[in-house]
Amino acid sequence: MNILGIESSCDDTGIALIRNKEIIENIVLKQEHKKGVIPEYAARAHHVAIFESANKLINQHKIDLIAYTNGPGLIGSLFVGSSFAKGLAYALQCKIMPINHVEAHILLPFWLEKISFPSLCLMISGGHTMIVLVEEVGKYKILSESQDDAVGEVFDKVARYIGLDFPGGPEIELLAKKAVHKHSFKFPNVMQNSYDFSFSGLKTAAIQQIKIDDIANEEEILEIKADFCYQFQLHVAKLLSEKLLKMHKKFPCANWIVSGGVAANKTIISNLNEVALQNNACVFYPPINLCQDNGVMIAAAADLKYSKTEEYNNFNLKPLSSWKIV
Ligand code: KG4
Ligand code: ZN
Repeated sequence: MNILGIESSCDDTGIALIRNKEIIENIVLKQEHKKGVIPEYAARAHHVAIFESANKLINQHKIDLIAYTNGPGLIGSLFVGSSFAKGLAYALQCKIMPINHVEAHILLPFWLEKISFPSLCLMISGGHTMIVLVEEVGKYKILSESQDDAVGEVFDKVARYIGLDFPGGPEIELLAKKAVHKHSFKFPNVMQNSYDFSFSGLKTAAIQQIKIDDIANEEEILEIKADFCYQFQLHVAKLLSEKLLKMHKKFPCANWIVSGGVAANKTIISNLNEVALQNNACVFYPPINLCQDNGVMIAAAADLKYSKTEEYNNFNLKPLSSWKIV
């Protein structure tokens, strides 16, 4: 079965084609938002990108099922993707399946590798930070989540404050590599005794500490920023590992899944690997190019769900995903 995956929940247009557990095409068109996503521009850019990239795939392959993101996300961006998917399914008279974006991030590692259930998933992106117990495909329990900002959002905001481009996560990771370990910073461990996360206090504390206004020397500013990025990133990595371990003690699972854009961060992954190793758990995460938003994860979620339910008939439009937060 050829499945076309369409992702347009935020600023990246993702179009992919998968067949029998194989990625045939994976096109991601990234938008330029230097200071953060502007929803109106994002929707307009999707409108152009989606036609260009889907056209190529439709001309080259027969499509059996179209999977598209139906939320959560920016409403304008979602409308572009869902309207395009519905129109295309109508034109091709093929099956169509709405997919929840968060569920797609969570399910991707299960499509890529054979991972047994139940698993504990640390879902870390620009919009979400949560620990989810994945009991099986379609059965999830949100065990904890952020009470305020998402972890990726904090990477983005802190990065912007120190003059880095959007998205901030990869920029912070890059600058952290230049750390000289001369300057030290202290970051708070907010909500230490809770299973939930809180990042807005950490964000405020972080940006209050980095004072570079009265330093004229460019080289010194760069050193301060690099040391700051290194310690901030490590602090976040430890914080995430601590929470996941705490949850693992309550819901022991041999497999830990890490997904969402922030899973691309190597310090976070290696910290989690270390903690997992000491606690007889194994960490699974997608390859770096599939951590951030893409069409493969949408198609993959449809593949896993379709073989489970097979309730999707020819052009059987369902208005909303059945995935509910429990
Ligand atoms: O999953 P994603 O592409 O979109 C959402 O669903 O939100 O995640 C985007 C987020 C952004 O906040 C971005 O800064 C963060 O993922 N991110 C990273 C890294 N790469 C992307 N954060 C930390 N380190 C990275 N290497
Ligand atoms: Zn995402």
